[in-house]
Amino acid sequence: MAEPTQVLFHPAPPAAMAADVRRGLSERLPTLPSKYFYDDRGSELFEQITQLSEYYQTRTEEALLARVAEDVMTRQSASELVELGSGAGRKIGVLLEGMGRAGRAARLTLFDINALFVAESVRALAARYPDVPVRGVTGDFTGDLTALGPGGGRLAVLFAGTIGNFHPDEVPGFLSRVSAQLKLGDGFLVGVDVVKSRARLEAAYNDAAGVTADFNRNILSHINRALGADFVPEAWEHVAFYDDANAWIEMRLRANANCRVRIPGARFERTFRAGDEIRTELSCKYSRGTFARLLPGTGLVMEQWYFDREELFALALLRRVHLPLLRLA
Ligand code: SAH
Ligand code: AVI
Repeated sequence: MAEPTQVLFHPAPPAAMAADVRRGLSERLPTLPSKYFYDDRGSELFEQITQLSEYYQTRTEEALLARVAEDVMTRQSASELVELGSGAGRKIGVLLEGMGRAGRAARLTLFDINALFVAESVRALAARYPDVPVRGVTGDFTGDLTALGPGGGRLAVLFAGTIGNFHPDEVPGFLSRVSAQLKLGDGFLVGVDVVKSRARLEAAYNDAAGVTADFNRNILSHINRALGADFVPEAWEHVAFYDDANAWIEMRLRANANCRVRIPGARFERTFRAGDEIRTELSCKYSRGTFARLLPGTGLVMEQWYFDREELFALALLRRVHLPLLRLA
């Protein structure tokens, strides 16, 4: 019989959001952290994105995972899964079932910034796998990860190419913080979207139905609600383009007209001119080589790089082999 499920709430305090928004909108290229996409509506819009024909990532990763789960399980003697950025939690079942087939008693932790999606996915997975203790943690994985506990027999997972939403300079620090919550021999399975044609990449972020545009503009609605701001989301145009020098998709919002925006909850206001842009997301694309270059000093090495047949998307299986040497902050 499974332990009772538990949802721990460590939401980002509004003060942290206010400071992020004030700092980001004061930069030369105004910027908002992409984690603020994911209020309840944003999380729902992301779910819609995963169904779009142009958005190859989700279906490709799901098929790849189904193909390699058994191999991952034979390389890892894990009995605990920790999914970071778990969202609707629809992918982790494949690994849980693999553990079950390997005769291991599984435990599962889901960790996400969206409290509603944590609560719903904990409930759904606990109902589907009644013998598996499922724990939910609402929190920000760009910060402290010690709520996860020390590891040991643990496989951490970050699906969807979410690693690409960190600036490449931030990735080694993040990997080090994950690594610090693992013990020697523990694993980290990371979904990685890979470099491909500009046309394919740009189509995935400029879908014909406009769902990605709504997802992008929703960050302004979230800030309006959380900080009492007066952005007019419809007055901002969705922009997404591939920057091949940096190997990233950049999403921006472009002001259609001059406007003054007040954000009382952040004690901040500023004027935007027509054509001014706010950067809302980076989605970095890697190769095996460029991804491997982020690992030294993190305590993690690449154990396996799995590709789908078309080489659109990869899963990197990392193994903790020594202490992280990099600063964890
Ligand atoms: N794993 C799911 C969802 C991916 S979308 C899938 O594969 O489909 C990215 C997820 O990461 C969202 O659920 C979002 O809420 C979460 N997320 C984004 N930034 C986060 C942060 N800083 N801390 C915790 N979760 C975050
Ligand atoms: C969650 N993350 C990996 C998605 C991505 O593709 O970078 C978020 C997203 N942004 C626009 N569409 C989807």
